[in-house]
Amino acid sequence: MDVTGLRHIAIIMDGNGRWARARGLARARGHRAGVDSVRDIVTDCASAKLEWLTLFALSTENYRRRPRTEIRTLMALLRRFMIAERATFMKNGVRLRTVGRVDELPPKVVKEIRATEELTAGNDGTVLSLALNYGGRREILDAARRLAAAAQSGEVDLDDLSEDDLSRRLDDPLMPDVDLLVRTAGEMRISNFLLWQVSYGEIHVTPTCWPDFRRANLEAAVDDYRRRSRRFGGLLAGEER
Ligand code: FPP
Repeated sequence: MDVTGLRHIAIIMDGNGRWARARGLARARGHRAGVDSVRDIVTDCASAKLEWLTLFALSTENYRRRPRTEIRTLMALLRRFMIAERATFMKNGVRLRTVGRVDELPPKVVKEIRATEELTAGNDGTVLSLALNYGGRREILDAARRLAAAAQSGEVDLDDLSEDDLSRRLDDPLMPDVDLLVRTAGEMRISNFLLWQVSYGEIHVTPTCWPDFRRANLEAAVDDYRRRSRRFGGLLAGEER
């Protein structure tokens, strides 16, 4: 997979439930199959030397509104994934980071996430950022709160603010802007994902449900991205006339 010129791919992994229903299976089976896609896509991105991959694993709304049994399944899968993938992350140079209110997840899960973050912190390959108990508006609001505190203490000057002053106070100050946002299972929505970072991102929506999403699907998304002309609000050479 050629990811030249692309720094950050973010994916809204949707359709686990639909994938399971279409096969007469329980939703949990869809999530379990979804973990296989996560594993394969992370490995492919690491081999391609992509700089940054963010996966929307759980929104704040999912965490609050899904039935307890489903959340329990997702938490168990996440915990198992953290333990099982450590060796592969180390072998492939993957560095795990997170955005979202991770500390509100069950302590047993938080412990394994933090351990994997620490273990992989020195790796210099692909950053795998997991959005967990994440909401984009909440992230911006928290950054605004930190900015207000910095203004109050005189650390920043309110009359001389830059976008960078806010970016640096988001959940992960190191996260680059999103180049390509992929959404599986067909819905044309951003769903409160990386609202700040996605500003100039190209959006690719595929009808494929997440458990069926593999390298060929990601390659198709990257090809689609390459066909777009990114103007960032300006004009391309030759368009002035
Ligand atoms: C959307 O499908 C998916 C989720 C809410 C969870 C995504 C979780 C995984 C892929 C597995 C665990 C993740 C990791 C990183 C190990 P949905 O249930 O909303 O599907 P539906 O819209 O078809 O019902």
